[in-house]
Amino acid sequence: MGLIPNEIISAVLDRSDIAAVVGRYVPLKKAGRNFKALCPFHHEKSPSFVVNPDKQIFHCFGCGAGGNAIGFVMRQERLDFPDAVRLLAEQCGVTIETASGEADNPSRQLREEIYKVNGLAVGYFHELLLSSREPAAKNARDYLKNRGVSLEIARQFQLGFAADEWEGLSTFLKQKGVSPELMQQAGLTIAREKGQGFYDRFRNRIVFPIFDIQSRPVAFGARTMVKEEGAKYINSPETPVYTKGRHMFGLNLTKTAVGKLDQAIVVEGYMDMIMPFVHGVENIAASQGTALTAEQIRLIRRYTQNVVMLFDTDPAGQNAIVRSLDLLVEEGMNVRIVTLSATAPDGSVEGHDPDSYIRKYGVEAFRLRLDQAQSLFDYKLSRLAAQYGEDTIEGRAKICREMMGTINRYRDEVVKFELTKALSDHYKIPVEVITKQSPTAVRSVPSVPVPVKTEPTVPIRLSRAEELLLSLFLSDPQWVRQAAQVVTPEDFSVEAQGIVRRLWPLAEKEEWSPGDALAGLQEPSQQVLAGKLLSMDEKLFVEPQRIFEDCVKKIQKNRLEREQKEHRRSGDFQSAIEIIKQIKS
Ligand code: CTP
Ligand code: MN
Repeated sequence: MGLIPNEIISAVLDRSDIAAVVGRYVPLKKAGRNFKALCPFHHEKSPSFVVNPDKQIFHCFGCGAGGNAIGFVMRQERLDFPDAVRLLAEQCGVTIETASGEADNPSRQLREEIYKVNGLAVGYFHELLLSSREPAAKNARDYLKNRGVSLEIARQFQLGFAADEWEGLSTFLKQKGVSPELMQQAGLTIAREKGQGFYDRFRNRIVFPIFDIQSRPVAFGARTMVKEEGAKYINSPETPVYTKGRHMFGLNLTKTAVGKLDQAIVVEGYMDMIMPFVHGVENIAASQGTALTAEQIRLIRRYTQNVVMLFDTDPAGQNAIVRSLDLLVEEGMNVRIVTLSATAPDGSVEGHDPDSYIRKYGVEAFRLRLDQAQSLFDYKLSRLAAQYGEDTIEGRAKICREMMGTINRYRDEVVKFELTKALSDHYKIPVEVITKQSPTAVRSVPSVPVPVKTEPTVPIRLSRAEELLLSLFLSDPQWVRQAAQVVTPEDFSVEAQGIVRRLWPLAEKEEWSPGDALAGLQEPSQQVLAGKLLSMDEKLFVEPQRIFEDCVKKIQKNRLEREQKEHRRSGDFQSAIEIIKQIKS
């Protein structure tokens, strides 16, 4: 992946207001010109986390975290620098053009081509569904109508129909100039044996296009309309633009609502997302039939920390919930669970998924169920109780052990304690005993490896003089200009040079903001340092000219001292003595 050009980084920072960015994750309180909050990066009872909109930075006086909007997103979302820029770019509407260095990057180009081909396929299938006069297409329209899917809904989701032909789509794409290789790389066709060409992957099925969070078509799920014939769903294989478990079906349409309502309802299937959505449930997305992966959870967490799990009542669905729970907790999400089983008039218990439930009972009943969502604690406890039985000692022992397995995954010690206490109260077993019962806390391995920067950021320490001088620099470019007359970047310690070298050329510019100065800092430790410098108390600068002069002197002296030591080490005592004379003078 190539470097993101500096202009893009600046554009992203210009358009992303730090208060808005941080405000998406933590409630901010106005405090003078600044905002205050409880620091999201360490536990604290009173707020020492400050957002400064003038300088477009944040800084925590408790744990030292600090930086600009990009740095905040890096930490909060655990992304590396380029991905954090991409995320912000997407949120503020900056398009990241292919940088010159990337134009010849084949994988990037291939991905772009696959999006295009997929787009053509979406249009082709959709057109067939809406307008084909073939009986098979009519059949597909009837099938959807029977399931309560109107043409309007079909349009909204760009649903389609794949005809019962071996080379329907491929003939169409060929006419559009798409090469057979590209069709196959997009997962739309399958190679025949012995180099006999290719045939369409999706045939005689309803087609659900899958879009990524930026609404680019990445894959397809295709449902048979014939009961008991082959697989119910056939899906795109993994391609350069699609990896299973990385996308949430529908989230591209609902992400804004998810953010606004500060909650995501997670369901399993395509129709389970579509039906509630068209009935006005706007904050919903589908995992596409599996337990949530860490990547899906992180995708959701960009918009909210609150998840309502609403999976099928069948054992597969319930097991998928259970598998998802620990991971959700580990990712710091708040989870509630809804089950949709209903008692039929004859007293039998019906299993449902959201689609079938809404069609049978309507959206009002559905919303009522949502309101009755259970806490993770209650849900898991009742499941374990049903599984192991609460009436025997052995049963209770197992229940407590498994409950503690989940409780120990919470990051918040208070939450952990409160839940342990609730379990203790429930079974009248002292907290100390329950705690001992806990299995050695094994953190589950995320099902998909995620590129996470886990190394802790080692803070850079500067001398007081450098610290003051650098924050003067950041407060006003005139200080950099003045400094350039008397010192060079080499006069600063190695630790400070990262920032100094960025500021030096910027001082030439007329337009100058601390944000620009920070824009290119990619190292988290550098970002933290810059954040700290930017948030130094301005009261320090009552006599800036004097501070400037003192600090410059000190820095010149430090440099001489370093040189002097260097000479002594290399045995050049004559030069060392010369320098000592200089220092004394
Ligand atoms: N799924 C899949 N591939 C399969 C089976 C299932 O991708 N072979 C995904 C689909 O996203 C599907 C979801 O898992 O929507 C849930 O599967 P299931 O409950 O079996 O299907 P429903 O969504 O209920 O489908 P329908 O209502 O059309 O029967
Ligand atoms: Mn269903």
